[in-house]
Amino acid sequence: MTWTRERLEAVARARLDGVRLVVVANREPFIHIYEGDEIRCLRPASGLTTAIDPLMRACGGVWVGHGSGSADRDAADERGRLAVPPEDPEYTLRRVWLTPEEERGYYYGFANEALWPLCHNAFTRPQFRAQDWDYYRQVNRKFAAAVLDEIGEEPAIVFVQDYHFALLPRMLKDRRPDLVVAQFWHIPWPSRDQFAVCPWQDELLDGLLGNDLLSFHIPHHCNNFLETVDRALESKINREHAAVTRRGQTTVVRPHPISVDPDLIARLGPVDGLREERRLRGRLRLGDLPLLIGVDRVDYIKGIPERLRAVDRLLELHPEHKGKFAFLQIGAPSREQIGSYRQLGHELDCLVEEINNRHGGNGWSPIVWLHEHYNAEQLCTLYRAAAGCVVSSLHDGMNLVAKEFVASRTDQRGVLVLSQFTGAASELTDAVLVNPHDLDELAEGLHQALTMPEPEQEWRMRRMRQQVADYNIYRWGGLLLTEVARFLPAHSICCQPQRHSDPELLLEAHG
Ligand code: F6P
Repeated sequence: MTWTRERLEAVARARLDGVRLVVVANREPFIHIYEGDEIRCLRPASGLTTAIDPLMRACGGVWVGHGSGSADRDAADERGRLAVPPEDPEYTLRRVWLTPEEERGYYYGFANEALWPLCHNAFTRPQFRAQDWDYYRQVNRKFAAAVLDEIGEEPAIVFVQDYHFALLPRMLKDRRPDLVVAQFWHIPWPSRDQFAVCPWQDELLDGLLGNDLLSFHIPHHCNNFLETVDRALESKINREHAAVTRRGQTTVVRPHPISVDPDLIARLGPVDGLREERRLRGRLRLGDLPLLIGVDRVDYIKGIPERLRAVDRLLELHPEHKGKFAFLQIGAPSREQIGSYRQLGHELDCLVEEINNRHGGNGWSPIVWLHEHYNAEQLCTLYRAAAGCVVSSLHDGMNLVAKEFVASRTDQRGVLVLSQFTGAASELTDAVLVNPHDLDELAEGLHQALTMPEPEQEWRMRRMRQQVADYNIYRWGGLLLTEVARFLPAHSICCQPQRHSDPELLLEAHG
């Protein structure tokens, strides 16, 4: 039986049974900004918010996040609260205010210049600054205070997101041992030797072991985490049940690959998609050429330079493609206060110019580079117009662009060229899988995307679409919720088997 929003809602009603759900994520799902005197509400370019928002709409509750927009304070009440989505409210957003120093030290500094490169095999060296670490601790405490304020004296499930909050679970448990705390780590967990270089590894691991449940996308990241703990901390590890016990608290470690809402994506976009495609093609001067498309935040883990060099190599290996296609790279600006991100933007500008100068001519340029944010509707139109989508991350926890591309191809056409170093590669095995460090292999992947016969496109796409439909975001949320709810004393599966109105759920949760 396919997981739907309705099924998740039913599971949430049965499992939560009045217990509050509080999600903590640094990035907020809706940002308010000033444009002149007007306030505009935007959706950020973030896989995390795309994935968690449908879950919150289905389950209700509170999302505690950093209020980072210029108009955020004016769009919220005095406690930083507002009902969202603004057009049709289904849950509450609670904004936490950070000083510029806190944002710099905690978000740009420790989270994104230390933990981000530490957890990704992208050969960017982590920066460990004691002051950033202090801010990271301070901001984790600030979020803990906001969560506890939201919950009051009530029982609650707190579902923490990502590497911004490694210390939060322990802080919450120390104050309220009765809370159920779970965390999803959206990025990879590296090998134990790689993680060991962090000067504060023990504190980070101890913080994470405040969770009842700690989840990663794939089993490999779970195993890396268990091995890291085994090497670093005094604790008891039960390999059979993938559980760690420390300071009287047991943390269960589980893989749960995150996903998208394929039905929502299939419905996205204008009624007259062809007209919109023509409009976008006209604006971007793409003519009628077959399109290859890349969509990313501009981040060094995404392998964007590698992808552009592969376009260059493709034109050397297969000059017959000259003038016959366009590679459209959309790069949403990201974390631009960090030097390595600014440098990457500059590198991409130069690379595009160099490759276009080398191969372009007669009004044709192989690469169209758009360093700007596109909304979900525009992206869907472009995904549907593309011959292929290229995801060449050097390392990525999951990569939801790959799943969004597949979900948008209701015509069963299009080729996905996918890095073997993404979590998505272990599910979308009918993509053209490539090693992004191997230039010739990546170029050959692009060639395949431009030349694959339609019947082959169709059978590959059908199978990938089935995979995304079966393993959608509602299944992810439903199984996580089921697992987490087992930690609620009164909701334990062994004590109350009659609560399981959905027998398939039991099988899935245990399988
Ligand atoms: O994939 C990791 C992640 O932090 C996600 O959690 C988030 O969707 C994305 O990167 C964007 O990052 P940021 O919130 O820093 O813009």
